[in-house]
Amino acid sequence: PDASVKITDKYVEEDDHRPGGDGAKWEEERFKASLLKFGAGDAATRQQEFDLLLDEKIDFIQALQMPGTSEQQKELSAAEKKKMTLDETRKSLPVYAFRDAFIEAVREHQVLIIEGETGSGKTTQLPQYLYEAGFCEGGKRIGCTQPRRVAAMSVAARVAEEVGTKIGSTVGYSIRFEDCTSEKTLIKYMTDGMLLREFLNEPDLSSYSVMMIDEAHERTLHTDILFGLVKDIARFRKDMKLLISSATLDAEKFSTFFDDAPIFRIPGRRFPVDIYYTKAPEADYLDAAMVSVLQIHLTQPLPGDILVFLTGQEEIETVMESLIERTKQLAGKVKELIILPIYANLPSDMQAKIFEPTPPNARKVILATNIAETSVTIDGICYVIDPGFSKQNSFDARSGVEHLHVVTISKAAANQRAGRAGRTGPGKCFRLYTAWAYQHELEDQPIPEIQRVNLGNVVLMLKSLGIHDLVHFDFLDAPPQETLVIALEQLYALGALNHRGELTKLGRRMAEFPCDPCMSKMIIASEKYACSEEIVTIASMLSVNAAVFYRPKAMVIHADSARKGFWSPAGDHLSLMNVYNKWKETDFNMQWCMENFVQHRTMKKARDIRDQLMALLERVEIEPKSSDDSIAIRKAITAGYFYNCSKLDNSGHYKTVKHKHTVQPHPNSCLFEELPRWVVYYELVFTSKEFMREMITIEPLWLLEVAPHYYKQRELEDATNKKMPKQKGKSKAELE
Ligand code: CDP
Ligand code: MG
Repeated sequence: PDASVKITDKYVEEDDHRPGGDGAKWEEERFKASLLKFGAGDAATRQQEFDLLLDEKIDFIQALQMPGTSEQQKELSAAEKKKMTLDETRKSLPVYAFRDAFIEAVREHQVLIIEGETGSGKTTQLPQYLYEAGFCEGGKRIGCTQPRRVAAMSVAARVAEEVGTKIGSTVGYSIRFEDCTSEKTLIKYMTDGMLLREFLNEPDLSSYSVMMIDEAHERTLHTDILFGLVKDIARFRKDMKLLISSATLDAEKFSTFFDDAPIFRIPGRRFPVDIYYTKAPEADYLDAAMVSVLQIHLTQPLPGDILVFLTGQEEIETVMESLIERTKQLAGKVKELIILPIYANLPSDMQAKIFEPTPPNARKVILATNIAETSVTIDGICYVIDPGFSKQNSFDARSGVEHLHVVTISKAAANQRAGRAGRTGPGKCFRLYTAWAYQHELEDQPIPEIQRVNLGNVVLMLKSLGIHDLVHFDFLDAPPQETLVIALEQLYALGALNHRGELTKLGRRMAEFPCDPCMSKMIIASEKYACSEEIVTIASMLSVNAAVFYRPKAMVIHADSARKGFWSPAGDHLSLMNVYNKWKETDFNMQWCMENFVQHRTMKKARDIRDQLMALLERVEIEPKSSDDSIAIRKAITAGYFYNCSKLDNSGHYKTVKHKHTVQPHPNSCLFEELPRWVVYYELVFTSKEFMREMITIEPLWLLEVAPHYYKQRELEDATNKKMPKQKGKSKAELE
């Protein structure tokens, strides 16, 4: 990159220097947030308070415009920061000044809505304050939910450090397949999904004295369901305190939902962030992001770390590789650039790295998913690069297809991202899209997850909690009727509900597993086909959510041939099972993994998940049996995933059987060359096309056996009558 290219050549600076562009409104909102407003009050008091705010506004603006004069604006360098004791750091957080007021407010009110800028200390401090104030007396716990696993883990680690204990004792966390708590745990961080599961065992949450539903603004599916459940509990458990905390300005909406609960506002501390837009749309935003990182590094003074928002692990890895490559070429000529990733499935030892202070004379660049938007706060960020995209899951009711898309973010998200640059001092945000696009193409707010995803999972959960009337469930925003109906239909087809919509015995057993309904059904079906050992292995390998193989550039041929060594003609699920079983034969050897280009970390995780699933098998009283019958194994898989069935038509395209939706085999699939006529896949991933990930070959008649109430003979007929494209006498499936 050419260091002489100034950043401003590439970007146009926005006129009013404020996130959002809509200067006046933003300013107003900010000042609303900057005063402690306590007590929801009536409209008249609110107006009064607001007028007061407007008076204060003038002083505040002046303070911001005089750099260096304000105490707050004194930027702490990384080294200075390190010197500060943990205690001092705690006291430096904006929330600290409101410690006593907060404790008093909790004592006085049962339900409290908390609103405060990201990074003000809500997540790490508030549970601690209550713990210190004696809210755990009698051994009751303080719970705090997080929408994201990484946030739950990293926040718990941080709080444990602040409290001065080992993680898992006084302070612990619980995420799916990983419980790091003990009898001693009094402050418990957990994902919202885990709290939902806790309702199954403890419907009144009686072991908690306080429950904090954190990051409420994220509006994840599980958090939205929790709103309805905890609201109900608070009505009959008057001794339980309920906190709903959020980073943005929807506090009023939450307050209304929770019977006009008072709002506790924590004044923000936010420095001005200059927003820059590109002059023209960027064709390749990854490359643009990379170039911007290097330009900032070469032209902007130290200290000042960079935060780049990308959509997922693959993008992060791509950008990381090429940044490493490019900085290598500059080695010695420029200051050190430390490149660190953060995404949901990043192993926890690597997560910790992003919180380490940047050494002097170096710059950190953090490549993050939207996890860094609000749930994880990294100090020292002065530059934000925002390409304007995120990955979002959505469910298309018409085609019955669920997938992850890359979508443009909302204005609210763009402003959150920009705000990350202004936490410790004035910052800059480089948006890799035009000002016009910001104004005209971005929605104001993201759509809550509950209105765009498949609800099978939560419907099963709610039914298990004895909530039958879903239409009248107390939703903050109700899901579309259509998706509720589809969820009910799917659960009926899986056998989890009967025709009256009541939970069946099968459904009750399915709900024991922390998996989606298809996977739970597959696991339970393995009893009938006497292959639970194998199915649980497959379920674990599918659940790890991390790459099983690695493929170093210099050894692509070796890596690919090692991978092919595990392939099964029956399909990818069985190939994954082979990897696990071969590893098990070596007594879970690490060396073996390296020799075979298998990620040891992923395998350890799979083994962990497998142990837990085996324990759950016992709970539902399934005696684990082992089988080497590939047909039995695939029938059990099909019993869970029969919706995900597609068929190769005569023009050489796969279409889903029920909805005739066109899908592609994934190039990494071991069946990619083979292209069997009938396949069942694990999931669809959407990149340039819709790809079926992990497929097995099946016989259409199995569908009648495992899902007689879903498939009809005539839908499958042409399979047996028409000629197959690759007729080989006997079909592949039968040969196994
Ligand atoms: O929840 P909120 O966004 O209000 O703030 P927080 O997550 O409690 O963060 C408060 C402070 O703790 C920030 O300065 C973070 O950088 C710091 N923190 C940390 O150092 N390590 C973590 N794992 C989490 C937070
Ligand atoms: Mg937080």
